[in-house]
Amino acid sequence: MAESATKILLTEQVIRDKVKELAATIAGEYNGKNPVVVGILKGACIFLSDLIREMQIPCTVDFVRIASYGAKKETSGNITITKDLETPVKGRDVLVVEDIVDTGLTLSYFVEVIKQRQPATLRVCVLLDKPKRRIVPFSADYVGFSIEDEFVVGYGLDYNEKYRYLRDIRIVGSTD
Ligand code: PRP
Repeated sequence: MAESATKILLTEQVIRDKVKELAATIAGEYNGKNPVVVGILKGACIFLSDLIREMQIPCTVDFVRIASYGAKKETSGNITITKDLETPVKGRDVLVVEDIVDTGLTLSYFVEVIKQRQPATLRVCVLLDKPKRRIVPFSADYVGFSIEDEFVVGYGLDYNEKYRYLRDIRIVGSTD
């Protein structure tokens, strides 16, 4: 199938305004706390980069990479961490930053992993939420946009590794 990404769902300006709004809320709640901000690679890299620069509070930044081989088809999916945090989070305030929550498998798994490490607090911020796709229950603490079940790319999100660089978020469609 040939695909295109020409239909803009969220413009650069709309995304920027939402990131500022989220950052202001988060910065207010984490004021004086020096949280560990954890990005889940690769999709979250651009959102996290913009978010922390809008937050303007001291924080530690770290990343994990989570593989989900075959996991999206079943609730007991095979999810593993292929690159772990380098920062001990015990007793720290942890903010997980993710581009999108879809089935919920990635974040529900990762939240349990972090909880076992006994952080002082743990919250999750997602830019996009696709509630209709959920196969395990998951609610983020901070949500940018709730969207319909459409395949979206740009601003870090990919289709077969394409389109992550787009400044806006677009819907992928078939050209066939
Ligand atoms: C995407 C996205 C989330 C996950 C969400 O990652 O970045 O990590 O899927 O889906 P879920 O709620 O169904 O688990 P992907 O596996 O495409 O990797 P990437 O971030 O490297 O693009």
